[in-house]
Amino acid sequence: MIKMTDGLRNLMEELRINSAETYYHCINVKELTSKMIRKMNAEGYTNYSPEQVAQICKGALLHDIGKLEIRNFILTKAGPLTPEEKQNIKSHAKYSYEMIKDELDDDEREIVKNICRYHHERIDGSGYEHMTDIPLYVQVVSICDVFAALYFDRIYRHGVNCDEALQMIERGESGKFGGDVLDYLKKVTAELD
Ligand SMILES: [Fe+2]
Ligand SMILES: [Fe+2]
Repeated sequence: MIKMTDGLRNLMEELRINSAETYYHCINVKELTSKMIRKMNAEGYTNYSPEQVAQICKGALLHDIGKLEIRNFILTKAGPLTPEEKQNIKSHAKYSYEMIKDELDDDEREIVKNICRYHHERIDGSGYEHMTDIPLYVQVVSICDVFAALYFDRIYRHGVNCDEALQMIERGESGKFGGDVLDYLKKVTAELD
């Protein structure tokens, strides 16, 4: 069960109205993250408590809420972004945590914050802030984020099929992911198509 305050619910509603694509993307990332974390736990690869699983799912649901601060024409631009637009988009990770921090309980703060702030980091340092030491649950949300962005249709293009999406991720087109995280993504996406 994900605990949502009225403030968080209002922000999600604002996201649904202003950027339905981002809203449904967040739901897809949360669903995929939930499947993957539960699978990892079930196979004994991880040992997250039910509370932690709920917090990880909450972080996945809210990871892109900061896109409310980014103008829509940048979010939906099909062509290449200018350097300024790229910088602007990148700031959404920071905004995501800033926007929700007063709505979080102390026990859930660290997990949700790490997911919001660091979901674009990659273990090879190729992310927004060039971090390499990334908590496993953040890596899970990150790979689900990339998969969801490739697989599900966007405003300006159709999604690719499951195999193509996995191959693109494996080739490192969206930065490097650990082999175990990739293996679990393959397991949970095997049911998709
Ligand atoms: Fe993001
Ligand atoms: Fe995302």
